[in-house]
Amino acid sequence: MDMITPDPRPSWIAGRPEQGASTLVVRHPYDGSEVATVAVPGPDQVERAVAAAASAAKEFRRTPAHVRATALDHVSRALGARAEEIAEVITAENGKPLKWAEAEVNRAVSVFRIAAEEARRFSGEVQRLDADPSGEARLALTRRVPRGPVLGIAPFNFPLNLVAHKVAPALAVGAPIIVKPAPRTPLSALVLGEILAETELPEGVFSVLPLGNEETSALVADARLPVVSFTGSGPVGWSLADAAPRKHVVLELGGNAAAVVLRDWPDPEGAAQRIATFGNYQAGQSCIAVQRVIVDAAVADEFLPALREAVEAQRTGDPYDRNTDVGPVVDEAAAERIEAWIGEAVAGGAKVLTGGTREGASVAPTLLTDVPPDAKAWAEEIFGPVLAVSVVDGVDEAFAAVNESAYGLQAGVFTTDVQLAFHASSELEVGGVIIGDVPSYRADQMPYGGVKGSGVGREGVLSAMNDLTEERVTVFTGIEL
Ligand code: SIN
Repeated sequence: MDMITPDPRPSWIAGRPEQGASTLVVRHPYDGSEVATVAVPGPDQVERAVAAAASAAKEFRRTPAHVRATALDHVSRALGARAEEIAEVITAENGKPLKWAEAEVNRAVSVFRIAAEEARRFSGEVQRLDADPSGEARLALTRRVPRGPVLGIAPFNFPLNLVAHKVAPALAVGAPIIVKPAPRTPLSALVLGEILAETELPEGVFSVLPLGNEETSALVADARLPVVSFTGSGPVGWSLADAAPRKHVVLELGGNAAAVVLRDWPDPEGAAQRIATFGNYQAGQSCIAVQRVIVDAAVADEFLPALREAVEAQRTGDPYDRNTDVGPVVDEAAAERIEAWIGEAVAGGAKVLTGGTREGASVAPTLLTDVPPDAKAWAEEIFGPVLAVSVVDGVDEAFAAVNESAYGLQAGVFTTDVQLAFHASSELEVGGVIIGDVPSYRADQMPYGGVKGSGVGREGVLSAMNDLTEERVTVFTGIEL
């Protein structure tokens, strides 16, 4: 699809399209071809975006809920109406197969619709204070007030939906937002800017700034942006938090998500299918893609050949081909790193059951066993189409293996035993436990986020709305209760 336009695609400065001080070229990960050129704003444009967000904050907080909800509903509908076009943009910039790009657009449609619904409901609480003698004839009203303008920094792996998860909750609570999309994948965020500009939102409440990563630190330090919501790698996320100790920082970082197959699961082959699919979707570039597979020895003989077969059945190739399951990773450097991590595991004694090869930015779906626990393919986030299997003896060993990780985003546990499900939910050190499925399941309205090295704070529309606001209490005195 030819997406090259005569002028660079404009950035959105305080809600208006502008050419920039320089440009960046977006390339298709599959073949390196040029997809589009994008305007990169200069320092004076960044300053105008931040100043506009700061000066719009008070008015926007007071904008009626129906105005914000109508704007969010418009975005949801417009994304739906342009779904096919936007999915092609996502595939062009990110390289994920078209079917996953379409799924991403559908999710973003839901995120904005849910945000519109929540914006209409978001009301606060009433608390009677006369439960204590000192509170007789008193009542507290607790409302949630935006902490202030938000800086949203988004990653390349869901270039539309993870931007949606920053923008929609901010606008729902009445907080201006400045979005910095990933430099490799700014196009779908810029389309979102175009759609936001069609709404009646007050001037200055959104900007989309496709800046380089190195230009982010000034924004992170800027006191006019008291909230930083970051999704991306651990080292970058924690360094942002360290650089802004007085800010409210939300970090959605990586993980090395585990899928556990316990002996009571009646369909090991079905589990193998789900794990093969969700270890390889988007070429493994999701923070909750299955990476570690922990299987009870009692079912390993049935499960492992089925897993190998299911991984080998993943079709690789051109992401625009509707039959393709696994496309390239984001660039060749990422593919080389993944290849090196596979090599490190093999040097430490791991066996390659299938895959292990690379061509350009494409890594073959890979299945490893006997990976040493300190090899990066097991201990770190590989962010590639690589599954590492460990065979364990029973539930305690399985759950201990899940927890032996520096990360804790989500885990999947294949069991039908309700007691074990509760045990998993209490025992596993993660932000979310998915029973009877892979850890990669995410509904956009549910709380989403991690513990340990996987971050702090929660996204998911309502959770993010709570996170972007703080409680303000008003006490009424001398009233009849
Ligand atoms: C992520 O990679 O953290 C997001 C996963 C998702 O939204 O499905």
